[in-house]
Amino acid sequence: MGLIRCMAGGLLLIGLVMFALCVPAEGYAGEKVPSCVKCHSKVTPGIVSDWKNSGHSEEGVICSDCHGDKHSGRKTVHLVQFPDEYTCGECHEEQLNQFLKGKHSKGWVTLIAIPVTHLEPDELIEGGKGCGGCHSMGIKPPEEKERLKKMGVRYQNNSCDSCHTRHLFSVKEARNPRACQQCHMGFDHPQWEMWSSSKHGTRWFAKARGNLPKDALAPTCQDCHLPGGTHENHTAWGFCGVRLPLPEDKEWAQDRIVILKALGILNPITGEATERMEIVKSLDMARLTNAAWVQERKRMLSVCKKCHSLSFAKKQLQMGDSMIRKADRLMAQAIEVVAALYRDGILKKPTGYSFAYPDLLYFMRTGGGRLDQASHIDQMLLKMYLKHRMRTYQGVFHASPDYAYWYGWAMMTEDLVKIREEVSILRSVKAREMKNENK
Ligand code: HEC
Ligand code: HEC
Ligand code: HEC
Ligand code: HEC
Ligand code: HEC
Ligand code: HEC
Ligand code: HEC
Ligand code: HEC
Repeated sequence: MGLIRCMAGGLLLIGLVMFALCVPAEGYAGEKVPSCVKCHSKVTPGIVSDWKNSGHSEEGVICSDCHGDKHSGRKTVHLVQFPDEYTCGECHEEQLNQFLKGKHSKGWVTLIAIPVTHLEPDELIEGGKGCGGCHSMGIKPPEEKERLKKMGVRYQNNSCDSCHTRHLFSVKEARNPRACQQCHMGFDHPQWEMWSSSKHGTRWFAKARGNLPKDALAPTCQDCHLPGGTHENHTAWGFCGVRLPLPEDKEWAQDRIVILKALGILNPITGEATERMEIVKSLDMARLTNAAWVQERKRMLSVCKKCHSLSFAKKQLQMGDSMIRKADRLMAQAIEVVAALYRDGILKKPTGYSFAYPDLLYFMRTGGGRLDQASHIDQMLLKMYLKHRMRTYQGVFHASPDYAYWYGWAMMTEDLVKIREEVSILRSVKAREMKNENK
């Protein structure tokens, strides 16, 4: 089509005019390249430079393909459109569809579903300076877009620029494990730290420096989690490590029930599912059938198998599974002693809680956001769950002995001892108070 139009144009016009007609058919729409780029070479020179170095500019994808053409200067800045994932999907349908099936597409809605989110400063959530800076990864449904607009939030519309960042949108950048680092690090998911200090990671760095042959084996996050260039990401256990149905092992099943109660997914009194169970299901936060779990495990093993024996790899992952079981044992004991404080009235039910029971989804804002009703012991429980339990098994899965032991398991045992000690202090304080009241 472009060629035909070009040839037809060539019959009528010559020189520059022909060139101007030739290109527009595909990309450079009319004089838009000159106007956006010309003006923005002064207004935002860095962005123009990155765009010029991108595959997009090479292929004639221009500013207005993503930002619309309604704005043309300082007075019309409010008319600029910011592209969401579907805008990218107009030209990259395959990647969009894979992304929509994976967990990354749920990052924003998951954030919004957690009670603590609504207690934290807007800057950190909607503004993207804290939780929202990582959970901007994900589709924002129309009602969320509307809400953000009303709050005056203009940016955070796109997740596709999380790994290949704007305006280079480089594939090479996305293949580098550093592309994952900003989000997969720190408190409760230190995958970057674990991987980069493991033999998998250290080999990758040695290779990147040229100290190992170019085809030396050194798996990256992408090799294991986005194999074959897919944009669909899923793991067997997921973040929470609480798959359903409950395990056959009776003790483990009981421990998991206790954890599910502390997550507010099961009613601590009746043991029935609460409305949070529906959220967990709809947001794909846990594998819900054994088959779904096995499918993900197989997918992972098929990656390990490229470099290790299947039996070696299976054994490594089984040790991760059984560390979840052992971590759950410690966790359930800690939850139960704290829950008993609520039962015996030593800790009062905060107004924001649904039950007189610990609620881990308030994160460090125990007390349902009322810091005057919060308790240190609930905070210790949260750290044990979110920081140390995660590290225990994530460390095993990422071949990081130090995270699995010192930052994970060892800290869980410390947490349990500290929690028990604080429980006994709280109980004796209460006993003394009662004695004084009775005098
Ligand atoms: C005559 C100059 C001019 C032209 C032409 C122009 N812009 Fe702009 N644009 C600006 C100025 C000035 C700003 C505000 C910059 C700032 O906030 O520092 C801006 C802002 C923007 C922003 C950021 C908006 C924000 O809220 O941060 C985008 C995106 C943008 N322009 C895209 C385009 C596109 C696409 C075109 C072509 C269709 C275009 N511009 C044409 C001058 C221009
Ligand atoms: C392939 C799509 C695409 C193209 C082409 C594109 N942009 Fe953007 N641009 C984005 C995305 C995505 C964002 C971030 C949107 C958000 O955060 O909501 C963005 C944000 C911006 C911003 C505001 C953020 C900032 O860092 O200041 C400016 C200004 C901007 N673009 C200018 C341009 C200009 C000028 C061009 C052409 C030279 C251009 N863009 C081409 C996708 C594109
Ligand atoms: C108007 C069509 C169009 C839109 C809209 C578009 N792209 Fe592209 N994109 C292309 C074309 C054409 C190429 C170059 C062909 C290729 O390399 O596959 C490309 C290439 C890419 C590449 C590979 C670059 C490289 O290093 O090889 C990435 C990554 C990419 N786009 C991401 C995005 C993202 C993210 C968005 C949305 C913010 C987006 N694209 C929007 C057409 C588009
Ligand atoms: C540094 C980036 C970052 C920050 C800050 C962050 N998160 Fe996350 N969050 C992640 C990543 C990455 C995952 C997935 C981790 C994994 O699977 O190991 C995740 C997972 C989650 C999950 C579980 C999702 C699932 O499907 O299992 C919830 C819920 C969550 N975050 C809520 C929050 C809340 C609430 C905050 C702020 C109070 C927050 N996050 C702050 C990056 C972040
Ligand atoms: C979690 C990180 C991540 C996110 C988020 C992400 N990508 Fe990618 N993208 C990658 C990686 C890694 C590659 C390189 C794949 C490979 O090795 O071929 C890639 C490659 C691409 C390519 C080039 C494909 C090719 O074969 O040249 C396009 C186009 C692309 N992504 C579009 C998108 C779009 C559209 C979105 C949003 C719906 C998106 N990406 C979100 C990591 C990501
Ligand atoms: C050698 C393969 C491999 C590499 C490399 C790897 N992972 Fe993993 N990852 C795994 C395995 C195995 C699991 C656990 C899967 C399961 O649930 O059975 C996992 C789990 C995860 C999870 C879910 C929560 C958890 O940690 O258990 C996230 C998120 C994750 N990895 C991110 C990353 C990131 C980011 C990198 C790079 C910094 C990375 N991984 C490197 C194999 C790998
Ligand atoms: C902008 C932040 C961000 C970046 C960059 C990012 N992720 Fe994530 N990732 C998240 C969040 C948030 C979640 C949790 C989404 C949810 O379930 O709600 C997540 C979830 C995951 C999971 C799913 C774990 C599970 O629950 O099964 C894997 C695997 C993963 N990411 C791998 C990667 C890899 C590999 C990269 C780099 C190529 C990467 N991520 C880059 C934010 C990010
Ligand atoms: C791209 C190749 C590659 C992939 C894929 C890969 N590994 Fe490795 N792995 C290596 C190399 C190379 C080493 C370091 C040399 C060695 O110890 O064999 C290593 C080391 C390890 C180690 C520590 C060394 C030891 O002997 O205890 C463990 C554990 C491990 N891998 C588990 C896995 C698991 C589990 C998977 C799949 C989730 C996996 N690896 C995927 C290449 C790979």
